[in-house]
Amino acid sequence: MQLNKRKFDVVVVGAGGSGLRCALQLAREGLDVAVLSKVFPTRSHTVAAQGGISASLGNMSEDNWYWHMFDTVKGSDYLGDQDAIEFMCREAPSAVYELEHMGMPFDRNPDGTIYQRPFGGHTANLGEKPVQRACAAADRTGHALLHTLYQQNVAARTHFFVEWMALDLIRDADGDVLGVVAMEMETGEVSVLQAKATVLATGGAGRIFAASTNAYINTGDGIGMAARAGLPLQDMEFWQFHPTGVAGAGVLITEGVRGEGGILLNANGERFMERYAPTYKDLAPRDFVSRSMDQEIKEGRGAGPHKDYVLLKLDHLGAETIHKRLPSIAEIARKFANVDCTKEPIPVVPTIHYQMGGIPTNIHSQVLSVGADGGEQVVQGLYAIGECSCVSVHGANRLGTNSLLDLVVFGRSAGRHVAASELLRSTHKDLPADCADAPMARLARLDASRGGESIQDVAGSIRSSMQKHCGVFRTADLLKEGVEQIAGLEQRVHDIHLKDKSKVFNTARVEALEVENLIETAKATIVSAEARKESRGAHSHRDFQERDDANWLKHTLWFREGSRLAYRPVQMKPLSVETFKPKARTF
Ligand code: FUM
Repeated sequence: MQLNKRKFDVVVVGAGGSGLRCALQLAREGLDVAVLSKVFPTRSHTVAAQGGISASLGNMSEDNWYWHMFDTVKGSDYLGDQDAIEFMCREAPSAVYELEHMGMPFDRNPDGTIYQRPFGGHTANLGEKPVQRACAAADRTGHALLHTLYQQNVAARTHFFVEWMALDLIRDADGDVLGVVAMEMETGEVSVLQAKATVLATGGAGRIFAASTNAYINTGDGIGMAARAGLPLQDMEFWQFHPTGVAGAGVLITEGVRGEGGILLNANGERFMERYAPTYKDLAPRDFVSRSMDQEIKEGRGAGPHKDYVLLKLDHLGAETIHKRLPSIAEIARKFANVDCTKEPIPVVPTIHYQMGGIPTNIHSQVLSVGADGGEQVVQGLYAIGECSCVSVHGANRLGTNSLLDLVVFGRSAGRHVAASELLRSTHKDLPADCADAPMARLARLDASRGGESIQDVAGSIRSSMQKHCGVFRTADLLKEGVEQIAGLEQRVHDIHLKDKSKVFNTARVEALEVENLIETAKATIVSAEARKESRGAHSHRDFQERDDANWLKHTLWFREGSRLAYRPVQMKPLSVETFKPKARTF
């Protein structure tokens, strides 16, 4: 079959905050950049980020990057790489001012500076008291950020391939990445997009769980592509539960609600976080708050007819503040919980929100692999940024609003690194003759299959299995059973069939391809989680309740081939300051 072929300097896969920030850097440097996206760029999942983007601007009270770094390292339960964390926290103010100068409509203080609100785990003076560090555009910060970056890219003449799905990376015999094979979703036509550098910015895979704040598009496409290309996945056992998803609906209620003064109550009307975190209370980091909520529910103090949620009270903030600072929350509460939050509390439960793990990279966002000798090496021509990557600035637990920051800081720096690299000064390498064979074979199998499994049944089984076996609290038995179930589901993924091919709309084909990415992510997650015999950050293990730095202060690497695990050291040495040595995390 004759395939369409197009050549670019750089192909960026994904049009969320990191992909758009990276593409903007490259387009402004005069490079020929293509951005592929399954959805119109401004519908990428970044649009759903609500509460803010962190930066130590110090607009409300004294703050600095060193305190921000301390909070991030402690929040990560010491699994974050301290060089990358220092870099991110130092770059934060300039990245935010840059967005401001592009026209991002932040909320303002009376003196004209950017409004900042408190968020979980953000403190002044190394944990002494809360600090207001989250720069906010009401409760629509991601929306404002994404629209700003999209408009700038249009002005910079970035090429957009809208409603295109990347299927696989192209690697040559040297292991270098030479672009992607991608499908136009409307027509089903497959093309080869050749590039001197390829940037994966495909976002997270929160749809491997049944109850998720994530968009339906978050199916781990970059994760699946990397795994199929033989690359490892790092720290996949660490998934963040956001404390406040609307009970029964999963929709996010921003931590900004608690930042503005909202509080969590159990069925007895008790502000229970005072018991678990006497200093930080409702603004303890997310892993801590989620576990406390789960504990309240398990001990019978949940609210509602089934005692299976807690209550987020914000009516005491007053209708004026709610409508000014949290307008979307008022709307979400009305639409998804049938609650007027200016008068009554919102029912909430911990809900899957963010993957801390992903494709391992160095501080320049170059993807890392492991050679035959066990040594780390850079994969030439491949970068990864944003939630699909693991640089690792979030370690075992991310702080709220560090996600938007990660997107723009590493989007910008990856763009700079690509633009300055030797790759861009040479000609395109020759494509291997068989570069599209594997994805074409996957498509042919889907079209040829007769009978077999339905997409929805298999995807639903993956989600419910992950929800049951890899939740807020994990046990050895649950994880072992989960590993077996997911292995069984892998076979069912291969048996998926498309009903009546003559009439099938391409969305069904896309969903089937997405399930192939979901299963890689689920497998990496459950196998890595089963192996980690300690509790750290979001990985909370009932049978190994303590953090074990002697044996487990290390990153997990999962390889698809044989579902094999290896480990690599955490970078404890920052760029310019002393190491923050692991301590017990108290709040
Ligand atoms: O709660 C929130 O607004 C979410 C922010 C984040 O995940 O960083």
